[in-house]
Amino acid sequence: MKFFIDTANLEEIRKAQLLGLLDGITTNPSLISKEIIDKSDIYNHYTSICNLLKREEGNVSIEVISTNYTDMIQEGEKLSLLHPKIVVKIPISKDGIKAIKYLSNKNIKTNCTLVFSLGQALLAAKVGSNYVSPFIGRLDDISYNGLSLVKEIKTIYEYYHFNTKILAASIRNPFHILECAKIGIHAVTTPFKVIDTLFYHPLTKIGLKKFLKDYDNINES
Ligand code: G3P
Repeated sequence: MKFFIDTANLEEIRKAQLLGLLDGITTNPSLISKEIIDKSDIYNHYTSICNLLKREEGNVSIEVISTNYTDMIQEGEKLSLLHPKIVVKIPISKDGIKAIKYLSNKNIKTNCTLVFSLGQALLAAKVGSNYVSPFIGRLDDISYNGLSLVKEIKTIYEYYHFNTKILAASIRNPFHILECAKIGIHAVTTPFKVIDTLFYHPLTKIGLKKFLKDYDNINES
């Protein structure tokens, strides 16, 4: 299972890198707005993120801010030329689906985002999106079961052997990660703090304390 970090913060990316747990990055306009003050710095910031990643550390999804087909494909092409690691993230809509089809035909990688239903996920796969990003946490927030959606997408994609990879997004807790892992979801994208929670178990802490105490009790000659 791949661990993408959902951030535009360089320090947060470094934390995952230092642990050898970085498989890619996803950003969105909200995340980028936390990191830069002036819009003229956006592309430089995207380049800095891409340059930080080693070859084996995956790709970087960058979201378009255009909402119509013509502007989306223009923006997508511009983003794809910025760095080879960039995957163009496109929100689901009629224009978005057309743009994904166009970019796919030009071998530009795409990630269909803001996916909240099975129908949307089916459309993304049919036009050849490389990734689909269903938002688990935001569905849970409105009392829908985000994990059920991810499971259903996986079932449908398997029936038809779609190549679109599921990049489960809006991950809020370790349960989301582990439930995705149990059904073999390709990747999750999450803030680093959620990955951090996977390390801890009280019995590990107690066990280590006892091991070291017992070791200290051995005589030294
Ligand atoms: O990047 C999209 C998604 O992961 C956003 O997550 O926590 O803002 O719902 P969240």
